[in-house]
Amino acid sequence: MATHSLLWLLIISCPVLFIVFLWWIVQPRPVKVPIKGRHVFISGGSSGIGLALAHMAAQEGARVSILARNASRLEEAKESVESSTGQEIKIYSADVRNFEEVKKVMDEAGPVDVLICNQGVFTPQEFELQSVDTMRSMVDINLMGTIHLIKAALPYMKRRRNGPPASIALMSSQAGQVGVYGYTAYSSSKFALRGLAEALQQELIVHNIRVSLIFPPDTNTPGLVEENKMKPEVTKLIAASSSSMEATEVAEKTLNGIKSGKFIITCNFDGFMLSIATAGMSPQTSPIMAFVEVIAAGIVRIVALCLLWSWYSTVHKWHNHQKK
Ligand SMILES: *[C@@H]1O[C@H](CO)[C@@H](O)[C@H](O)[C@H]1NC(C)=O
Repeated sequence: MATHSLLWLLIISCPVLFIVFLWWIVQPRPVKVPIKGRHVFISGGSSGIGLALAHMAAQEGARVSILARNASRLEEAKESVESSTGQEIKIYSADVRNFEEVKKVMDEAGPVDVLICNQGVFTPQEFELQSVDTMRSMVDINLMGTIHLIKAALPYMKRRRNGPPASIALMSSQAGQVGVYGYTAYSSSKFALRGLAEALQQELIVHNIRVSLIFPPDTNTPGLVEENKMKPEVTKLIAASSSSMEATEVAEKTLNGIKSGKFIITCNFDGFMLSIATAGMSPQTSPIMAFVEVIAAGIVRIVALCLLWSWYSTVHKWHNHQKK
């Protein structure tokens, strides 16, 4: 009897001790990033997820600035956010591909507390068919645009002395977690954001700045309808199982993730599973999530291998079908 109880004590206390150990080692440390009364700057803020984020942040009492290229769309966005939230917001027109333009905006906008690099373009197409110009525009806007925004905002963000943590959030994609047929250029630009985020977090931790990386699925935006017309048939077959989300849902997950200082922010179950499958060397602030990552690693890898098997079967079937 005594040995039984001892055994049970050991079995139960092992995971608990393990979580305590993980709580002790996880880096960066868990924090809260408040939004209320702070300057939230959102690029790609005039439509889709960016506009939904602007609405939400303004609703929560943040001082919101949005950046986009099209001035008339910016005006429309300003009016829609101000009429629905009663909060005044600032708008800036610039092309994120042009560092001088971005720098001018940041000099004018003043210190940012929460920078959300959300702009993005997406054209799915087979590598061999896609023009170099189309590929370059994806890399320039999605990756270089993000680098420009951070480069221009960072000197001001670092000058903050005390107070709560600041945040830099990068909008990646589930195509930034896994490469999929037809997404060569897009995935390149979105995977790159992960390397950027991981390295940047190490450099900025001493300045009390948190980096977040968001992995949304396809999101129902005006852009998606056009994108879907371009999608190769194989891409549609492979990606058919992944469901799309509304911009407001993605915005909500994003803002909540930023506020809890998360490094990786996922938006739905698929993204959550992908985050476990690709945990790798990513920072993890939550001991519970670290525990889940460790325990689930093996079984999630098996699921991933099965998924890959089905994708490759689809590619082969499609290829054979075309040859006939
Ligand atoms: C800017 O947005 C407006 C309204 O959506 C649109 O009609 C116009 O064509 C856009 N301009 C450019 C240069 O894209």
